[in-house]
Amino acid sequence: MIKSLRGMNDILSEDYKRFTYFINTATKVAQRYGFHFIETPLLEETALFKRSVGESSDIVGKEMYQFIDKGQNDVCLRPEGTAGVVRAFIQKKLDKAGGAHRFFYHGSMFRYERPQKGRLRQFHQFGVESFGVNSVYEDVTMIMMVSDILKELGIGYRLQLNSLGDNNCMPDYRNKLVKFVKECEDDICEDCVRRLDTNPIRVLDCKNDKCQTIYDGAPKLLNNLCDSCDDDFSSLKKILQNNGIEYEIDTNLVRGLDYYSKTAFEFVSDNIGSQSAIAGGGRYDKLVEFLDGRPTPAVGFAIGIERLMELIVMPETSRDGYYIGAMDEEAVDLVMSLAHKKRKTDKVTIDYKAKNFKNHIKAADKICAKYFCIIGSNEMKDGNMIIKDLQNKTEIIIKQEEF
Ligand code: HAM
Repeated sequence: MIKSLRGMNDILSEDYKRFTYFINTATKVAQRYGFHFIETPLLEETALFKRSVGESSDIVGKEMYQFIDKGQNDVCLRPEGTAGVVRAFIQKKLDKAGGAHRFFYHGSMFRYERPQKGRLRQFHQFGVESFGVNSVYEDVTMIMMVSDILKELGIGYRLQLNSLGDNNCMPDYRNKLVKFVKECEDDICEDCVRRLDTNPIRVLDCKNDKCQTIYDGAPKLLNNLCDSCDDDFSSLKKILQNNGIEYEIDTNLVRGLDYYSKTAFEFVSDNIGSQSAIAGGGRYDKLVEFLDGRPTPAVGFAIGIERLMELIVMPETSRDGYYIGAMDEEAVDLVMSLAHKKRKTDKVTIDYKAKNFKNHIKAADKICAKYFCIIGSNEMKDGNMIIKDLQNKTEIIIKQEEF
């Protein structure tokens, strides 16, 4: 039997209900904040992710679904959504138009990771990208949006914050950190030794306990910010406090993608096991320029939908739509016509086979129909139909042409 690939799941039935409830809720919130939908391709040039997410990141270095297509192009399935949205933003010349441009998207992302609970090879993100707004208020707006979405879904969270500095302060900090880590090079793990050459900042989120104990004594990013980054980070904290949004500072939060500067944040849940990050984002002011666009400040986030699925508190399902059943074979044609007419305005489920009353009502109950209609030989003769309201337990008889 052919099965789905490891780390790639089908979404159907109860999961699909949760999935669409999430998308609808997040879409409503994003639209309330003035964001517009954008769809970008699943397949992009590999170079896009190498230049944006970064060749030294695990995502690009180890986890890409990359291949040469029939036209000899080096392409890959997108591992994340930001790079494609930035490419589209530049390609449509919106960077030259000036002003603010705000987008949201949702769809599949692909990372060839080791599958485990909460970690898939095909997963879904709901993401938001804002271009052209160089204000820390926009960073707070991103955080408020995630918070609003999670609250509407009944999901508790912890918000972790850091600042990754900018081109003024980050290089000096990186040098200080490299100097510190080189002095302990014999005691750190192999991955960290490699990171020293490729992307030293990433040593800070090494999962090895021994490394973490050593890095406790490392210089801290937040103590090495330039005045502008430091002011922005103070404002960010103040605005969050003023709006009642709690946060924790995590000086080791560096994110797994290379394009960030200044604000970086993650939302985590303590109820879903080791893959606890449910959303992540931050500012990426240099990326548009880096991908050959006009310099444009930008900030965004993405929520991992699969990690939230079990946490969503679903509203009680209410009965909905019509079920129409035939009790005689001759009535099936009529049921089909009545359903066709009613489907112009309402949800209608029918069965193409004649069944007895008991079996039809069971079927109507199974799909949670609100109204139950049944057509037998009597109804065929007199042109009437009985409509039972399964919620309020009432019943009316009407002419079929009034249906
Ligand atoms: P990210 O932190 O790599 O950021 O991913 C965002 C979220 O996607 C994570 O917090 C997690 O919930 C979910 N996620 C990541 N990998 C997996 C996986 N293998 N299986 C299941 N869920 C996963 C980004 O992708 C950035 N593009 C976010 C962003 C948008 N930054 C600025 N704008």
